[in-house]
Amino acid sequence: MAHSANFWDKIAVKYSKRPVGNEAAYQQKLQKSREYFRSDMEVLEIGCGTGTTALSHAPFVKHIRATDISSEMLKIARDKAKAQNIKNVTFEQSDIDHLTVPDQSLDAALALSLLHLVENKEDVIKRVYKMLKPGGYFITSTVCLGDNMKYFKLIAPIGKFFRLMPLLKIFSAKEMETALTDAGFEIDHLWQPEKAVSIFIIARKVPST
Ligand SMILES: C[S@@+](CC[C@H](N)C(=O)[O-])C[C@H]1O[C@@H](n2cnc3c(N)ncnc32)[C@H](O)[C@@H]1O
Repeated sequence: MAHSANFWDKIAVKYSKRPVGNEAAYQQKLQKSREYFRSDMEVLEIGCGTGTTALSHAPFVKHIRATDISSEMLKIARDKAKAQNIKNVTFEQSDIDHLTVPDQSLDAALALSLLHLVENKEDVIKRVYKMLKPGGYFITSTVCLGDNMKYFKLIAPIGKFFRLMPLLKIFSAKEMETALTDAGFEIDHLWQPEKAVSIFIIARKVPST
């Protein structure tokens, strides 16, 4: 954890100034997520980074608990919340592996650009499954590099960045989908923007019968 947190701490300022790679796709993901939100929802975000997504979703839900391992990322996120006068997002430093959330307490969880960075995505998915209420949603956007060599060409310019990363797991979009369905989710929405290396999935915790 320390190594990973250090890496993200060091690049936090640069990360916060970097424009979103594909703004149109990002906006579409925000829009789609909001189709699932209600004003009474309790939401968790893991790996929230500098808080851009949590702060933009804040008006559409009751509360977002936005967590990240990097204190520097969170410092920027808190400053942004203050500047925007947003009060229903709580930022908290935690590694997903040590996060405590009561079972069946959440309406939705978000993990955006995170699951390819964790040691064991299946464990994280299982933990999120337990945290969600039956019928709750897990919204993920995950880099899936395992499908096709052509994707390596697309990431070549950012390859250096990836090599510097503490951890990058390579798996296919199908493996990502299977990890969710194996844990008990059903896929409600799946979208891979053209030429993108990430897959956006909204998965629903199937209520047990
Ligand atoms: C690629 S950034 C994505 C940030 C944000 N979700 C976004 O879409 O812009 C990955 C974030 O995950 C955080 N992170 C990495 N490993 C983590 C872990 N095990 N638990 C919690 N956060 C983690 C990093 O500190 C970083 O802020």
